[in-house]
This record gives sequence, C-alpha cells and structure tokens, in this order.
Amino acid sequence: KRVLSVASECVPLAKTGGLADVVGALPGALAGQGWEMRVLLPAYRALRPLCADWPEVFARDDLFGGRGVVKAGEVDGIAVLLLDAPHLYDREGGPYNSGGADWPDNPQRFAALSWVAAEIARHGLVDGWRPQVLHAHDWQAGFAPAYLAFGGPRDVATVMTIHNIAFQGWAEASMLSTLRLPAHEFHAASLEYYGGLSSLKAGMVTADRITTVSPRYAEELMRPEFGMGLQGIVAARAAEVQGILNGVDESVWSPEAEAVPYTATRIRGKVANRAALCTEFGLEEVPGPLAIVVSRLTDQKGMDLLPEVLPEFIAAGGGLVMLGSGDPALESAMLDLAARFPGRVGVRIGYDEALSHRMFAGGDAVLVPSRFEPCGLTQMYGLRYGTIPVVAAVGGLADTVITANPAALAAGTATGIIFHPTDATAFAGALRQLAALHADVKLWAQIRRRAMAQPVGWAASAAAYARLYDGILRP
Ligand code: ADP
Ligand code: GLC
Repeated sequence: KRVLSVASECVPLAKTGGLADVVGALPGALAGQGWEMRVLLPAYRALRPLCADWPEVFARDDLFGGRGVVKAGEVDGIAVLLLDAPHLYDREGGPYNSGGADWPDNPQRFAALSWVAAEIARHGLVDGWRPQVLHAHDWQAGFAPAYLAFGGPRDVATVMTIHNIAFQGWAEASMLSTLRLPAHEFHAASLEYYGGLSSLKAGMVTADRITTVSPRYAEELMRPEFGMGLQGIVAARAAEVQGILNGVDESVWSPEAEAVPYTATRIRGKVANRAALCTEFGLEEVPGPLAIVVSRLTDQKGMDLLPEVLPEFIAAGGGLVMLGSGDPALESAMLDLAARFPGRVGVRIGYDEALSHRMFAGGDAVLVPSRFEPCGLTQMYGLRYGTIPVVAAVGGLADTVITANPAALAAGTATGIIFHPTDATAFAGALRQLAALHADVKLWAQIRRRAMAQPVGWAASAAAYARLYDGILRP
C-alpha cells in the first residue's frame, strides 16, 4: 500500500521544529505497518546539490511561473521526492522567510508543492508509482487535498494533519485564480476564510479526514481559545477528526547512546552527564534540581514566565540551562536571566542538536510551560531520559505526562508534573513541587524509573495511522 506524505520539512533535510521530526519518522514507522510512504518536499537551495544526480520522475513546465521537476532519491532510508523549482525555492534563507520577513510569494511557493502532490496522486510518477493516500502536513500542504477534491472524481484518499493551527497559510482573496482555485468554491463553507484564503482551512474542508498530533489538542481545537478562528470547522467535522500522538525516534533519543550511557536501572551515568553539563554552561554547584529548556522562543512556549518564577526556584537550590532561539525580545530576556544568576543559570542562544542531547542526558527536569502545545516532543525526550517533565496542562503535554498528584503518587504511576493554567502562579507552584520531589531521594528515583519505562516510540501511533489510511482507501 502506498502513501504520499507532503510537507515543507523533514529530518534530516530541513527542520525548523517538531514537524520535521515527525515527517522524517513516519516513513520508517509506517513501513512496519505495510505502508510504503514517500515524502515530497521542496528542493530548498541547500538540498539542490543532494538531488542533482537523482533521476527525474515528474515534471511540469508551468509551475507557478517556471519549470518544476521532481527528483527521487533515498536519504537515511526515507524515500524522498524533492520538488526542484528554482524560481520558488532556490534562495538564501529559511524555508519560509529570510531575515524574519516571510517570502511574499509563500502562497505560490507552497501552492506549487501542493499542486505537484495532487498531480502525482492523479497521474503517478514516471516509474509508475502512484499513492492510494495523500497525507498533507500543515498549511504548506493544505491545498493538496483541495486540488484533488476540486479536480473531479478521484481514487486517492486524503488526510490533513494539523501540527500547529496557529499557522494558517493566509492569502488575499485576489489570489484565488493565481493559486488555481475555482471561483465558485469561494464561500464560507469552502475556501473563503475571513474574506481571504487559508490553505490550512482549504485542506481541512476538503480532506477525507483531519488529524492532529494529540487527542487533547483535537478536543481543544473545537474551542475559540485554541482553534484560532478555525474552531468551527473542527467542530463541524468532529466525527472525522482524530488525535494521534507523535512518537519519538527511540534510536536517536536514547540515554544509552549518550556520552556517558545510562539506563533506568544503571542511572549512575546520568550523574556524570549532569556534572559535564554544569561545566559546559559554567554553572557552580546546583544543590537542587537542574532544569533544562530546549525550545523555540515564541509566545507559544511560555518562556516569558521564567523571569517571574525563576528567583524562587534558584533560592530553593535549583539551576537552569537553556538552549533556544527565536523572538529577539525573548532571547535577550533569557540572556538577562543568565546575567542575573551567574553560576546558576546558563543560556545558549542558537540551534544545536548535539548540545540538546547533552542537556537531556544531564538535566534533572525539562520545563515546557506552553500556552498551547499540539503535541510537543521535548517532554517525551525528557521521559525517555529520566529528565522529569514539568509541563503546562495543554495538548500533547497533558496527554503524555502523568502528574505527581496524590492519587498518582499513591499508585506509583507519576512521571512528571502538570500545572494549570499557564501562568506564573501555577508555574511557580510546579517548580516548588519539583524541588520538593527532588529532595525526596527515594520518591525521585521512583518517578524517574516510571518516566523511563513509559513507551514514547512510534509503535502505537504508526498503527493508528495505518488504521486510518485503511479505513479511507477508495476502490
Ligand atoms: P515545536 O515544533 O513547536 O517547536 P516540538 O517540541 O514538537 O515543538 O519540537 C521541537 C523540536 O525542535 C524538538 O526536536 C527539539 O529538541 C528541537 N529544538 C527546538 N529548539 C532547539 C534548539 N535551539 N536547538 C536544538 N534543538 C531544538
Ligand atoms: C508543531 C507543534 C508541536 C508538535 C510538532 C510536531 O510544531 O508546535 O507541538 O509536536 O508540530 O507535530
């Protein structure tokens, strides 16, 4: 059985967030379920040398202002289809922007990706490969199910996955024909969105099924606080909406593969990793819990709460090491914290995968105080590494952590701390509890063992996707 996955990011080729991890992990996870997945993504400038010699499997001369060809290859065992369209993707900068400003032609850039996906679904590649399911990820692929739905009868089923509803793929209504969308579909029940267009909405109204990356987020999306304008569509299609948790690649995220390896039963290595981490960040003795943060710095992630809650945590013996980048105001607020608490708080601005591994290996706890979190991956890395997650009660965070409330403590099932709402009062309370749990050596060891025993791999979710695909196959 064949499925085409369409996305703008895929580890190891392009990544700005968890979307890339998930898109890169799904093919391997689904292979075990009898589904062959190929991943279509743009040949950004950095990827063009890689695919220069790959065979061409699809071409169109009129791809939104120039020629586009699809090259097929394999990267880390993933069957990759790169859409090489230099007029759209061969530029200096990130996938979506350069120097903080979005590319003005993003609607065309990702409509082109979606158009090609729909064409491949209809006509197949030159090697004869044609998918039975098209799986679109986020706004960048949202028009793909729409092009298929509006193009007449089809035998390919479609799935629209929402990784983050905050990004909706907005375009002016005047773009309708440029984006090759039918004018008669411009009404509220179809393409129209607050007077304009949203590629995410287009995918949500036309795909056979909508999924998102946790059951809790699926439910949250039906409310205005989380649905961000699209809650009505999610609610209207509730019977066809499903939350399927992301998994973690357990071979990449494994404490047994770190500098000083450790396991749940042989935890000593973690102590050495912790000491090394403190040295790396220039921290002195941290008597209480050493918290880590690995995150994009945006409003979503709630890091603006740290300046308010940190003084008490530091006074209670805690320490913090942070790795992140994003919003310049938040970056400088984090650097201020490091300056304010020298020896106890270390901050690295930037993106560094290897360092993030050392942090999970050496930390005692990982902080994820998000305002919303469709799934979240770092709390799951934390579970796997016995780096206890302290998380806000939203989305996938609430679905993956068992909070240390009296019932869970009595049952011995706690794996972390969940706080609600996402504000400084609740966050400070959670940090107080963290310090108390950490001070209770036996209890702390028990929670850590529980956390490390919790399955966070792809097995269950891959099976859920396979069931979903099987259920929508068309004759
Ligand atoms: P989101 O996709 O909203 O950013 P996720 O938790 O799903 O949140 O995924 C974030 C991914 O990016 C994780 O793999 C995390 O480790 C990684 N990450 C985020 N910021 C950094 C950073 N500064 N350095 C290294 N990895 C990072
Ligand atoms: C988004 C979400 C994050 C999720 C990731 C992968 O970036 O913000 O919560 O884990 O997508 O699905």
